[in-house]
Amino acid sequence: MTTASPGNQQAPAASPQELSGRFEQEFGTAPHGVWQAPGRVNLIGEHTDYNEGFVLPFAIDRTARVAVALRQDDSIRMLSTYGDQGTVTTTLGALQPGTAKGWTKYPLGVVWALRERGIDVPGLDLLLDSNVPLGAGLSSSHAIECAVITALNELTGAGLEARDMVLATQRAENDFVGAPTGIMDQSASLRGAKGHAVFLDCRDQTVRLVPFETEPAGLVLLVIDTKVSHSHADGGYASRRASCELGAEVMGVKALRDLDVADLEEAGGLLDEVTFRRVRHVVTENDRVLQTVELLAGSGPGAIGPLLDASHASMRDDFEISCPELDLAVDTARAHGAIGARMTGGGFGGAAIALTPMDSVQTVSEAVAKAFAQAGFTAPDIFAVSPAAGAMRVG
Ligand code: GLA
Repeated sequence: MTTASPGNQQAPAASPQELSGRFEQEFGTAPHGVWQAPGRVNLIGEHTDYNEGFVLPFAIDRTARVAVALRQDDSIRMLSTYGDQGTVTTTLGALQPGTAKGWTKYPLGVVWALRERGIDVPGLDLLLDSNVPLGAGLSSSHAIECAVITALNELTGAGLEARDMVLATQRAENDFVGAPTGIMDQSASLRGAKGHAVFLDCRDQTVRLVPFETEPAGLVLLVIDTKVSHSHADGGYASRRASCELGAEVMGVKALRDLDVADLEEAGGLLDEVTFRRVRHVVTENDRVLQTVELLAGSGPGAIGPLLDASHASMRDDFEISCPELDLAVDTARAHGAIGARMTGGGFGGAAIALTPMDSVQTVSEAVAKAFAQAGFTAPDIFAVSPAAGAMRVG
């Protein structure tokens, strides 16, 4: 376990200069630049994005970095510092949804999606480095996609705006990778800003940056990575999405965003029991996002704990996307001083967040580690995060 304290303790990704040097060694020429994009933590608003609702994620100071050079031909060569797969070589003509392996499906998905949009992306060489924990629910895959799309947008002169890059990376995820995800993660990665959470209306992609700084309030936002890895390309995520679509159809609305808490009584009479609970989660979660935004502006982060707790209960009981490790992390953190805690991200594994008074950080971290050991679970990683900058060129 990484003993948590305010601040980020994981080794940083390779510096832009180191990545450039390594690129030159591997590919024999200098890259045309180095770009980075962060992972994200979602403060609140889970499974609301594909229901055209509200989310409140923020970019974290863990990033994927890519050194990229465009080529004159249609070859694609890709290598990562993860040390797996070696150099993967393919061609533009061979890009087919569902065929790429491992991390390469993310950059290849972006190249594919841009070309599907009519953007003339040529062959390229790419070297990836990342310190966003993989499969931890912190959007390691979107960090890669957002770094790549930021690079290619600039190098090809495509001139896409952030909202178009969001849609292109969503297309890559949905149709190339095969994960039917929404637009939250890439919006946080592309549009995040230091010291702010990204209040996003997923219906029209309107963004309001909401100041979110825990330190002045004497708090730390801990991430507890349960090490239970998950994939949104397997059935659970898709089945939740299907229930939401069914709920909206039966209720006669375009998306669950169009229902509010007062509509739940009627929904209870019209929907089967499971669909009703799925719908109740989304409707109440949208409401919690709006309340959180209001509380942050009025009273600050110290006031949002109960909303985080309610969000977790709703995901555990109504949406049923938690797991024993996430529940244990949340319950233990709460019992040892966290003022609010919830799982974050798509669920079925990944990470929880715990809003913790600075002087309880050690106690909470030790208690969670001990509880995991006693339950026979893999030791979690626990570290602090705070809102960081979104995607950018760094070299
Ligand atoms: C994953 C998806 C997002 C969102 C969350 C759940 O992170 O990529 O689009 O649906 O799950 O809130």
